[in-house]
Amino acid sequence: MQDLKQQLEELQQAFNQTLPEAKNSQDVEAIRIRFMGKKGLLTGILRGMGQLSAEERPVVGQLANVIRAEMENGLKERAEQLQEAEQTARLQAERLDVTRPGTAFTAGSKHPLTQVVDEICSIFIGLGYSIAEGPEIEYDRNNFELLRLPANHPARDEQDTFYVTPSILLRTQTSPVQIRVMQQQPPPIKIVCPGKVYRSDTPDATHSPIFHQVEGLVVDEGVTMGDLVGSLQLFARKLFGEQTQIRLRPHHFPFTEPSCEVDLSCWTCGGTGCRTCKGEGWIEVLGAGMVHPEVLENCGIDSDRYSGFAFGIGVERTAMGRYGINDIRTFFENDLRFLKQFS
Ligand code: DAH
Repeated sequence: MQDLKQQLEELQQAFNQTLPEAKNSQDVEAIRIRFMGKKGLLTGILRGMGQLSAEERPVVGQLANVIRAEMENGLKERAEQLQEAEQTARLQAERLDVTRPGTAFTAGSKHPLTQVVDEICSIFIGLGYSIAEGPEIEYDRNNFELLRLPANHPARDEQDTFYVTPSILLRTQTSPVQIRVMQQQPPPIKIVCPGKVYRSDTPDATHSPIFHQVEGLVVDEGVTMGDLVGSLQLFARKLFGEQTQIRLRPHHFPFTEPSCEVDLSCWTCGGTGCRTCKGEGWIEVLGAGMVHPEVLENCGIDSDRYSGFAFGIGVERTAMGRYGINDIRTFFENDLRFLKQFS
């Protein structure tokens, strides 16, 4: 019996030495299992009770109970201590000094092309137009064919583009949005369509394989070339100032008849000739014309009853003129030193 009592006391000593070494709740649990688990040290010692006499057994049993209770208390206390320490450490680590100065965020700004597109659109919205959009990946049919540019039409050469399949391509112009809108809604139609267009051009100061246009389309009864001229004149004055003049030069587009290119009086010199306009006094900004009756019919619109005008504005050209930019590539390089000048 003395032997068992001694073992129990040694166990308690060992326990008391080990417990303070526990660094966290897992350690505490490991100690509990080692000393008091089903296969633990205490159980091991108590197995020896079988050899004790009936008088000895309760004495050892009582001692064992006292030691077990003490160990349990010890474990509980240690676990609580550690939990408190863990919480304090966490609070310390997550401490936030709300009086520290904040991190300043630099606000970005709209890209100069976006600014120009927004401005052009808002002028037309003011004239009662609504915005329409179409996909940049377009059917050959909408981009060319229904606009009277059948396969092998020579004008396709100027608008060579990137093909996804033989009949699907990256649109070369925003004009296919005209087709989509006319197929979907009956006149009266009065829309502008801003967007990206693509051509397989080698980049240089005035060419980029990706650029932007704003397309305009008006279809109704009795729409005339006079309406086109009046609308564009108004637009030019709003965008570049009241003194701005427009000039129409005859041109050819397969989807309009008659067609014209439209120049604006130079916004730098007012028309006398300078470096911006290369001495011309005029700057070409858009193409326009009366929608070809066949294009109307292609979209199911009765060309005897309805007529329309359309135009396509080059956004880069307009922005370059307005901001005095001489290389189109600067728009697409994302150089912050360039972009910051427009914020
Ligand atoms: N799509 C033409 C181009 O990219 C521009 C244009 C000309 C659009 C005449 C029109 C238009 O709507 O009527 O060169």
